[in-house]
Amino acid sequence: MYSTTPLLLSTSATLLSGDRVFVGNQPDDFAIGPLAGPADRICVLGLGYGGSLRPLRATAPGSAITAVDLDPDMAGVTGALFRQHFPAVGFDAVVADAAAFLDGSGRYDLVVIDVYAGESYPAFILQEPFWQRVRRALAPGGTALLNAWGLPAHLEPLLPPSPQHRLASLLAPLWPDARYLSCRRNMTVVLRDASDAAPPPQAPSASPSASADGLTPTDQAVLALQRLRLAHAEEFRVPAGSPAPTGTEDVPVTPEQLDAEMARRWPAMLAEVRTHAEAVGVDTSVIGTREFYTRPDVAVPVTLELARRGRPAAALLPNVAASLTFAGDTSLGWFGEWVANEAESLAAEHPGWLVRTALPQALSMAANPLVPAWSWTDPLLKRVASVTAGS
Ligand SMILES: C[S@@+](CC[C@H](N)C(=O)[O-])C[C@H]1O[C@@H](n2cnc3c(N)ncnc32)[C@H](O)[C@@H]1O
Repeated sequence: MYSTTPLLLSTSATLLSGDRVFVGNQPDDFAIGPLAGPADRICVLGLGYGGSLRPLRATAPGSAITAVDLDPDMAGVTGALFRQHFPAVGFDAVVADAAAFLDGSGRYDLVVIDVYAGESYPAFILQEPFWQRVRRALAPGGTALLNAWGLPAHLEPLLPPSPQHRLASLLAPLWPDARYLSCRRNMTVVLRDASDAAPPPQAPSASPSASADGLTPTDQAVLALQRLRLAHAEEFRVPAGSPAPTGTEDVPVTPEQLDAEMARRWPAMLAEVRTHAEAVGVDTSVIGTREFYTRPDVAVPVTLELARRGRPAAALLPNVAASLTFAGDTSLGWFGEWVANEAESLAAEHPGWLVRTALPQALSMAANPLVPAWSWTDPLLKRVASVTAGS
């Protein structure tokens, strides 16, 4: 699972590091596929540089993985990369269009969908026929995982217009029990039949295949937390009371369209943050400025109040802290340290927010190979171990 020679590959599409399986971004969460159900035969649609392969191998060491990519260069380059650095991580590469491949393929226990054309979704991802194909390609009891990219968790991504809203309305009739795990602007959507539904929160994991043997302490912590996040995964569904989709509304999908939609939603979210800041009696003058994130005396009480009320804006601080870290900016390291120090009390007072948002983003800062190691990583790993014990 680890490279014996140094490797750090960072592109807009992938982040691979030879010294760690989990790097703190969305493909890490594909490891939950084999935790959610059988995974003897796995199909990955969208191989790219193979960022999903080692997370999948961490929980499905013995599975057969077929990885499909439209781009012949991806299959060639990634095959060579893995032969050199991760020769034990086997997979079969197929050059094909994802939708066409499913038509002629066999059936899989797990289908992973991570397909992007340039910086946007290929059109078929937002259309029903593709999802009918995915259903037909799944063996009984099978799981599909989708990387649903678009609006960040703090800007209500399941409200229209957004790619996540379109996908939620499209997938609800096919998988009424769809769930998701959030990672900043991405969601990992877990599609299983209701009869195979997720265990209730805190139930012991029924995963015979998952093994943390031989993983680094940080990789083990990420894996342990993923089990708990899966047990706490929320419904991937259009919120009650939101406008009924017509199927013809414009969906923002390009980076420019999504930026514009984020800018449109931003003032309402800030207004909500300000209202809660007033309620808890902290300085509201820094809300909407960079100073907000560097003022724990303001950001913490407001965020906890938003978390207490179950508001999406409670994800703002964790998301910004982790996103800045991915840009190489370590100035919000205090957030990871605070989570490490407070995890036990947060587990008692804000368990959903801790498991779904705060711990994953703090751990993603610790797993990120683009910044130096933090002084608080070991305490954080200990807190993850105590929070996940028995899960
Ligand atoms: C963002 S990459 C996946 C990245 C991967 N998670 C990684 O870390 O390397 C998406 C991949 O989807 C592929 N792709 C785009 N359209 C496709 C299609 N219609 N069928 C198959 N693959 C497609 C692209 O060539 C690209 O390699």
